[in-house]
Amino acid sequence: MATPLVAGNWKMNPPTVAEAVALAQALREPLSAAEGVERVVCPPFVALTAVADALAGSPIALGAQNVHPEPKGAFTGEVAGAMLQGVCSHVIVGHSERRHGFGETDGFVSAKVLAVLGLGMTPVLCVGETLEERDAGEASAVVERQTAAGVAGVASDDLGRVVLAYEPVWAIGTGRAATPETAQEMLGGIRAHLGRLTDSATAAQVRLLYGGSVNAANAAELAALPDVDGALVGGASLDPDAFVAIAKAFAGRA
Ligand code: PGA
Repeated sequence: MATPLVAGNWKMNPPTVAEAVALAQALREPLSAAEGVERVVCPPFVALTAVADALAGSPIALGAQNVHPEPKGAFTGEVAGAMLQGVCSHVIVGHSERRHGFGETDGFVSAKVLAVLGLGMTPVLCVGETLEERDAGEASAVVERQTAAGVAGVASDDLGRVVLAYEPVWAIGTGRAATPETAQEMLGGIRAHLGRLTDSATAAQVRLLYGGSVNAANAAELAALPDVDGALVGGASLDPDAFVAIAKAFAGRA
């Protein structure tokens, strides 16, 4: 079984680089002690190098929250993958806040996945349906479309390097996590779909995360699900005690 992975998506928090460093310092010791799980924190771009310094020599890896697919050029305000290389090992791609807030399409997200893989980093590809799509009975079709598009062009040998996070939009930041039944049903469906796109052995290598209102109280029941290999954590990742508790819940995964 693959090593579980717990990633903290700090989003546009904390408000200063100094506070980001303080959060990293608070996490460093207790999170380092939570062995048996890959641990990643994803601070805002401007805090990446300072947080990298604060975590240097620890087992805690660094991720970016976004990337532009092009290697360089006239893309005001954007950050290229090569700029992240050497600082980050992981990059969140296609988060719903980018798909829905910034109009990112399946094709654009796919180009980012390929750029990140091409630079030897790990994409954390996010998929998830809105409440309207779920209510319309389209949840599985939406995540299957996003999954297929997200890994389109990825060689099957590279697919095991992709981390896929199922984050239902209605569960993000709402305090209303998916039930364990829904999380397993959706992630099991995604694994089966990856198997149809490649083969079941390859699909078994892809780490599947659940994201959306994961907290210290619900992490253990999510970690017990067969197709949940980790968590992508927003709000609770800003609380060192909560994030460490979530990492420990997944570290204890059989
Ligand atoms: P949340 O965010 O844990 O605050 O719901 C998850 C995410 O957006 O990745």
